[in-house]
Amino acid sequence: MILLTGATGTVGGLVARRLPIDEPVRLLSRDPARAAALAGPGAEVVGGDFEDPASLRRALTGVRSALLVTANPLTNAHDENFLTAARAAGVGHAVKLTTLSVTEPDATDLITQWQRENERLLRASGLSWTLLRPRAFMSNTLGWARSIRAEGVVRGADGTVATAAIDPRDIADVAVRALMDPAGHAGRAYALTGPAGVTPVQQTEILGELLQRPLKFVELTTDQVLQGLLARCPEPIARALAESAARGRDGSKGQVEPDVAELLGRPGRGYREWATERLAEFG
Ligand SMILES: NC(=O)c1ccc[n+]([C@@H]2O[C@H](COP(=O)([O-])OP(=O)(O)OC[C@H]3O[C@@H](n4cnc5c(N)ncnc54)[C@H](OP(=O)(O)O)[C@@H]3O)[C@@H](O)[C@H]2O)c1
Repeated sequence: MILLTGATGTVGGLVARRLPIDEPVRLLSRDPARAAALAGPGAEVVGGDFEDPASLRRALTGVRSALLVTANPLTNAHDENFLTAARAAGVGHAVKLTTLSVTEPDATDLITQWQRENERLLRASGLSWTLLRPRAFMSNTLGWARSIRAEGVVRGADGTVATAAIDPRDIADVAVRALMDPAGHAGRAYALTGPAGVTPVQQTEILGELLQRPLKFVELTTDQVLQGLLARCPEPIARALAESAARGRDGSKGQVEPDVAELLGRPGRGYREWATERLAEFG
């Protein structure tokens, strides 16, 4: 049995759709009805919350490997609770979604520190583990969809700074391999990037070409970006995201890593391929 946390989210949802049909899979969500609506035929759905250890123990019974996706950078208790329950249930292997910035010594923002500690907890847990460390998801640009539809405009910062953003489908493809073959991926940490650095201005051009209408990129000041983040996120998270963006201005996040191509036997999907698949949301 494979257990997926984050199963209603971006990566977990893609993993659920990619596991072999004959592989027993259980999806954990705080909202099992919603997860059931997304689940493929044959998938088991279980209610569970990282804040509720008893629900985790129930969900992990009979599980051999699990995908661990946590999403609250204000606490490490979610990872801690999950790992305690997993150890008690005899789970063999955990595949953990973390972030590539943990490898960068100058990255000291709250989100990176949170994931560093989550990684430490997993390494100390006694479970065997695989770390998936992605660069920014291409799907973050879905945040532009509303202003593109309404005004043909993308508002963002650092328009000419390249990031080797990754298609979440490639993260999911790697996750499936690690979940299906724990021994082959135990003790490995994968740096997951897209096949090329791409700037927000280039992403805007690609979306305009695909939509067959000109789009305008409007550069925001760092203060405007911070105000936008503060409107959407708790202050410590908004500040961490702004700090991370500032660090990327030296261009280092544009570096392409070989792991995706080596693991999947093909190059990672580019931004044009991702955008083509999701175009209806921008049109
Ligand atoms: N976005 C990026 O650019 C990026 C880059 C690098 C790393 N990451 C990492 O990716 C992870 C997020 O992955 P994602 O984008 O695939 O997730 P997501 O779409 O943000 O979804 C979050 C998932 O977490 C689950 N969740 C939240 N709180 C929970 C709780 N208390 N108990 C149980 N489940 C809970 C939600 O499930 P329910 O609501 O159904 O319970 C949902 O499925 C984070 O760890 C982040 O650091 C993201």
